Amino acid sequence: MNLKQEIDKRKTFAIISHPDAGKTTLTEKLLLFGNVIRSAGTVKGKKSGKFAASDWMEIEKKRGISVTSSVMSFPYHDFHVNILDTPGHEDFSEDTYRTLTAVDSVVMIIDSTKGVEPQTIKLFKVCRMRGIPIFTFMNKLDREGRDPLELLAEIEEVLGIESYPMNWPVGMGKRFLGIYDRYSESFVRFNGNEEESVYKVDEMEEKAADIYENPTYQDTLGELELLNEAGNDFDPERVRKGELTPVFFGSALSNFGVQTFFDTFLQFAASPQPRRTNEGFIEPEKQDFSGYVFKIQANMNTKHRDRIAFLRICSGTFERGMSVTLSRTNKIIKLSQSQSFMAGDRETVDVAYPGDIIGIYDPNAYQIGDTLTAGKDRFEYEELPQFPPEMFKKVRAKNVMKSKQFKKGIDQLVQEGAIQLFRQELTDDIILGAVGQLQFEVFEERMRSEYNAEIEFTSLGDRIARWIDGDKVDRKKFDNRSMLVKDRYGQYAVLFENEFTYRYFRDNNKDIKLIDLLESN
Ligand code: G4P
Repeated sequence: MNLKQEIDKRKTFAIISHPDAGKTTLTEKLLLFGNVIRSAGTVKGKKSGKFAASDWMEIEKKRGISVTSSVMSFPYHDFHVNILDTPGHEDFSEDTYRTLTAVDSVVMIIDSTKGVEPQTIKLFKVCRMRGIPIFTFMNKLDREGRDPLELLAEIEEVLGIESYPMNWPVGMGKRFLGIYDRYSESFVRFNGNEEESVYKVDEMEEKAADIYENPTYQDTLGELELLNEAGNDFDPERVRKGELTPVFFGSALSNFGVQTFFDTFLQFAASPQPRRTNEGFIEPEKQDFSGYVFKIQANMNTKHRDRIAFLRICSGTFERGMSVTLSRTNKIIKLSQSQSFMAGDRETVDVAYPGDIIGIYDPNAYQIGDTLTAGKDRFEYEELPQFPPEMFKKVRAKNVMKSKQFKKGIDQLVQEGAIQLFRQELTDDIILGAVGQLQFEVFEERMRSEYNAEIEFTSLGDRIARWIDGDKVDRKKFDNRSMLVKDRYGQYAVLFENEFTYRYFRDNNKDIKLIDLLESN
């Protein structure tokens, strides 16, 4: 098979959602379709600790969760599927955001009883900023949810993306009859825990008269007419640009509408796309191998103190043992230890293609965002965006005698991208910022185990971070509620105590331009 065929087969995506919307349940169904697991409950087992084999760090074991965004790869029909997990709950971290830079499409799950929730909004913004195609799965139709039209309106209003329902629910909760598939002009009948049955819509009257005559079905036909007339048109090109989200209604738990969703999704989801570098776009078909590191996981095996760098392959063919150049340092590195990810198991990978994610052994050489290339051309993939942290803590060494280790640890962990560093402008105190609580715990644990430095945190609570456009500030305008800090690049930022202080400051200091990273990137 040639490179182009391998690229076209690949569908690399992430599933984003607010906790409890059904991400684990849906992922599990997709793994079942891919024959990666044999029975339901295998993935959910991670909550009860069954996934011990992939618990890399001590801290993961303690909490029974997986710190890293793991990768699940499997063949499905003519495709090669790569699902990148985006951790939610307390393990939400910058890795979650960065993972979204390594995918070509995104599935957004919304709980139809709740609508668009906060974490979905945050993750959605990152996808939007990068123009990633977004497919929506409206979950839990077996429960009494909100009105479907209202849900679509919410997607358009809160997220600001147009939608196209690929199917439409007929009833809901106890009155749920099935879905009308607009795309394939068929009706999929909900049979509870039994397998679904499918009819062509023009054969409904004859083959499924009980449904056809049901007033709920007739009402739905009316709604569909409205959608056909007043709704958006389906336009694959706009889907690819991330301007229009196809919406699928279904129930992950009952495995209803999931297979049709997955098949249609794979048909329209983007294959590996050209990626931006400092030398212009690099096409995946370029013969020379290239890729970039979007995440580094340290101490996957505590006995060896090893680190694994997660590499997104962007062009050419990866072959184990090949020599590549690390663009940042111009050093040549031989990639002899490489792993693929098969739903939690790591196996040695010999060959991989654009769209694939591989883990390479990191002899402490890589940084997040690093580009690796084979061949003569030198270029670097676009820098990974900085993401706005939301939680802040002052940090200091418990033992002043150990300040050297403390400093070394902070420098390295910050450079690695494990956490963000700020300095308070007036006091020069060190402040760490994170997207989720777990980043602090991992940081503390690594400072102790890798740098032998015990640390002490003082929480500043959740804050809203905004960067200042410019390098001159009047210090008198700031206080503890609107705290002036500098980031690790020396750029001024303000940590606001809450939404109220932020708005008050903004409205009273119109001359200061405040930048929201998620909107400006
Ligand atoms: P998450 O990974 O997004 O956090 O969500 P997860 O799949 O764990 O699902 C959260 C809860 O919602 C689970 O119930 C799950 O069974 C339920 N759920 C997922 N999809 C559907 C659906 O289509 N319909 C209904 N009715 N429920 C759904 P739980 O009680 O928290 O966990 P469990 O004890 O059932 O495992």
